[in-house]
Amino acid sequence: MSKKSFYVTTPIYYVNAEPHIGHAYTTVIADFLARWHRLAGYDSYFLTGTDEHGEKIAQAAQKAGEKPQEFVDRVSARFKEAWGKLCIEYDDFIRTTEPRHKKIVQEILQKVYDSGDIYYGEYEGYYCVGCERFLTEKELVEGRCSDHGMAPERRKEGNYFFRMEKYREWLRDYINEHPEFIRPEGYRNEVLSMLSEPIGDLSISRPRERVPWGIPLPWDKNHVTYVWFDALINYVSALGYPDSEKFERYWNCAWHLIGKDIIKPHAIFWPTMLKAAGIPIYKHLNVGGFLMGPDGRKMSKTLGNVVDPFDLSEKYGPDVVRYYLLSDVPYGQDASVGEQYLVARYNTDLANDLGNLLSRTITMIEKFSGGEIPAPGEKAGTDDELISMAESLPEKLEALIRRMELNAAIKEIWRFIGRANKYIDESMPWSLAKDPDKKERLNTVLYNLAEALRITAVHISPIMPNVPAKILEQLGAEDSSLSTWESVKKWGQLPAGLKVSRKGILFPRLEEAKKDEAAGVKQEAKAAQEAKPKVQEEPVNIITIEDFTKVQLRVAQVLEAERIKGADKLLKLQVKIGDERRQIVAGIAKHYAPEELVGKKIVVVANLKPAKLRGEESQGMLLAASNEEGLSLITVDRDIDSGARVK
Ligand code: ME8
Ligand code: MG
Repeated sequence: MSKKSFYVTTPIYYVNAEPHIGHAYTTVIADFLARWHRLAGYDSYFLTGTDEHGEKIAQAAQKAGEKPQEFVDRVSARFKEAWGKLCIEYDDFIRTTEPRHKKIVQEILQKVYDSGDIYYGEYEGYYCVGCERFLTEKELVEGRCSDHGMAPERRKEGNYFFRMEKYREWLRDYINEHPEFIRPEGYRNEVLSMLSEPIGDLSISRPRERVPWGIPLPWDKNHVTYVWFDALINYVSALGYPDSEKFERYWNCAWHLIGKDIIKPHAIFWPTMLKAAGIPIYKHLNVGGFLMGPDGRKMSKTLGNVVDPFDLSEKYGPDVVRYYLLSDVPYGQDASVGEQYLVARYNTDLANDLGNLLSRTITMIEKFSGGEIPAPGEKAGTDDELISMAESLPEKLEALIRRMELNAAIKEIWRFIGRANKYIDESMPWSLAKDPDKKERLNTVLYNLAEALRITAVHISPIMPNVPAKILEQLGAEDSSLSTWESVKKWGQLPAGLKVSRKGILFPRLEEAKKDEAAGVKQEAKAAQEAKPKVQEEPVNIITIEDFTKVQLRVAQVLEAERIKGADKLLKLQVKIGDERRQIVAGIAKHYAPEELVGKKIVVVANLKPAKLRGEESQGMLLAASNEEGLSLITVDRDIDSGARVK
């Protein structure tokens, strides 16, 4: 059977300024997907690149005092450099100023022009140079573009138009018939709602005397191509459309990854352009949320509130930055990014869970088995759960990743790591080692731990490409046949007799102080488990709306969280409710570690009479769901500023 194909693209980034972590985020996801598909046996192809025409770029070049071509050459190279630092392995990097691209743009334009879908007319509207498109009145917030904070320019000029409105009904039907076309689902609904009203025709040219930096229209040299009509075509020009083997192989399975800022061009302009040009429609549009700056706004070059991925990766290494971005930001949602969150993730998931599993295992093999991975003996009941979890992981991951549920996929891997750590606690190799009769059992346990680590190393390779080699080296399992997808589907592929070797700590803790705290949390959680409180059925009181509206519920963002000495159930939170700061004391210490809470947007009762708990003032109460199994904080499903009323 021939291999299944996979084609993933990122937006091609504007070269008006340096790359920042928002670009890195989307590109890391694409790289993860490309690597995972390659690992899982797909014929995988990954395209990224830079968008180099348009007014915004021409203006930036002028500001920098450079010729446009020199300017774009320089900045485009910075993107390549950034991707190198994050171990991004693209198969192709397209630049819209390349002849191979310009040629295809002109061919497609000519084709659509010849078919009668392009006409000349006058246009008047509000143009945002940041977005490089006309905004509708509805999209303006107090007369400004909400993404770029600028008032758009009123413009009236003669342009060529693409008959986009003609395809509106077709597109609406297409999206309705293909529920997975745009995902997550919220964005699909957003697009359907845009399509419920006329979308108008799209102005696809600019007069050359005003915007000389662009691709000339093939039939009228006095106009250049509108930058979006030019840019979107990169996804097919890079494959060598119309008649290349690559186009044949990859186009029909294309996954576009974008941020939610550019939904309209990708979900509306692009499919209608493809339809008009007689090109099949791409497979999936995957829409990510925004990474927010410390000021709570979308990070953007235009606003200047950006985190530099070069700095982070210099400080923590590319693997940690990649792990952080992939695991901490729920795909499709907005999220605040910051070094403190990266450090928290690092300490719990990498240093604690993965790092400890490796060092505990190597130590025990050295101590109890002379540094050699022993041959396993008979399986016992406690082994089954670990083994069946490992064997079901490939299929589970495939299902989640193919649905773009990336955080859930990573969680599955960490659930397995957690299971392996628990397996150590349950089987207690140190006590098996004391009893010569238990030697065979000890060998089985040690073997299983080494095998669990090998399997983990393979599964994390698309996330952290440099870490698996370090794990496999310590296990002595460097043979490439031990890193294949086939080799993780069936338990027991690791040969016995390999020599392990300690090579230092995989992920040294970043702040020693946090160690005791983390251990404390685990013990307390255990104690809480043992002393399960009985839930009582509460009598239900019927209340009126008036009763309910007496309670003022508002969104609050957690700024700081700490334990209270001598009160093992309580956490002291500093929260922000709009412009106001408050302290809230909550009995959630057994369910949440303080570092997990920082940044979260929770719901609080804002008009509660202040009270003192263990000498600490509490100015409100937070909402949480709980039963005998545990407790879960009520948070907001989409990003919304703190202070918002909950009704
Ligand atoms: O729009 N959070 O390029 P661009 C998350 N050239 N993602 C972010 C982000 C943030 N704060 N900031 C940027 C363009 N991104 C066009 C695309 S494609 C044919 C043409 C990411 O440089 C996100 O993927 O403005 C967003 O869609 C993209 O960068 C925009 O990059
Ligand atoms: Mg942008």
